[in-house]
Amino acid sequence: MKEWTRCTSSMSVIHVVALGGSLLRPEEADDREMWLGRLRQLVVHLEGNGRKLGLVIGGGLPAREGIQLAQSSIKDPRRLDQIGIAGTRINATVLQQVLLEIGCDVAPLVPHSIEVARTLFDHHHVVVMGGTEPGHTTDTVAVQLAASVQARHCIIATNVDHVYSKDPRHHDDAEALMELTLDELAAITGVGTPLAPGASAVIDPMAVQAAMDASLDLAVLDGRDLSRLDDALEGKEFIGTIIRA
Ligand code: UTP
Repeated sequence: MKEWTRCTSSMSVIHVVALGGSLLRPEEADDREMWLGRLRQLVVHLEGNGRKLGLVIGGGLPAREGIQLAQSSIKDPRRLDQIGIAGTRINATVLQQVLLEIGCDVAPLVPHSIEVARTLFDHHHVVVMGGTEPGHTTDTVAVQLAASVQARHCIIATNVDHVYSKDPRHHDDAEALMELTLDELAAITGVGTPLAPGASAVIDPMAVQAAMDASLDLAVLDGRDLSRLDDALEGKEFIGTIIRA
C-alpha cells in the first residue's frame, strides 16, 4: 500500500481514469449490479465535491468479439482497431447513460477525440469516452486526455492488482511492484510499440510512451474493488502501483 502523495482534492482538478472494459462485466450478475452501483456512488460523490472526472472505457467483450469475428477476413490491423474502437464506444455509452439516468452532470456526447473531450469539461463535470483512433488502446487515450487537461496523474483501473516484475500468468516468481519509474515500467512492458488489435497487457506500451512524453505519473490498481480507486482519487494510500515520471 502506497501513499499517493501528489494527489489533491482541490476543486479545480480534473481526474482521469482508464477503466478496463472487463470491469463492466464481472462473471456473476450480482457482482455487475454491485460494481455499477459502487461506481455510481463514486461519481456522485466526486461531482458533489465539485470535482471533474474523465472516464475512458475499454472495449472488453464487445471489442474482443468483434475483432475475433473479423480477424480471418481482415488483414489491415487498422480496420480491426476500428472494430475495437466501436466496442469501446458501446461500453462508454452504457456508462454515460447509466450516469445520466441518476442525474449526473455527464456530457451528452461520447467524444471521439481528445480535443472535443477537453472542451466538454467547460460545461460538464463528467466526460465518458472510449477510443479515438487506431494504433493504441484506451490506456493511451486516458494518458493523452490526462496530459491535455493537465491532470496530475492518470489512474489505470484494470483487472490486476499491481504491475508485476514479469507476467505473473507465466512466472511464479513474479513480484508485485509498489512503486517504480516510467523508465522501469518501460523495461517491463515495452514502450512505443503498438499492441496487436485486441491484445491485452497490463499497460499499453503506447500509453507508457505518452506518459513519458507528458511526464505524467500513473497509478495502476484493481478496479474490481472500487474502494481502491476511491482511495487513489481521494489522495489516500491505495492498494496498487504508483509509477513516477
Ligand atoms: P481497449 O482499450 O479495450 O484494449 O481497446 P485493452 O485495454 O487491451 O482492453 P480492456 O478493455 O481494458 O480489457 C480494444 C481494442 O480497440 C482498439 C484496439 O484494437 C484495442 O486492442 N482501439 C481502442 C484503438 O484502435 N484505438 C483506441 O483509441 C482504442
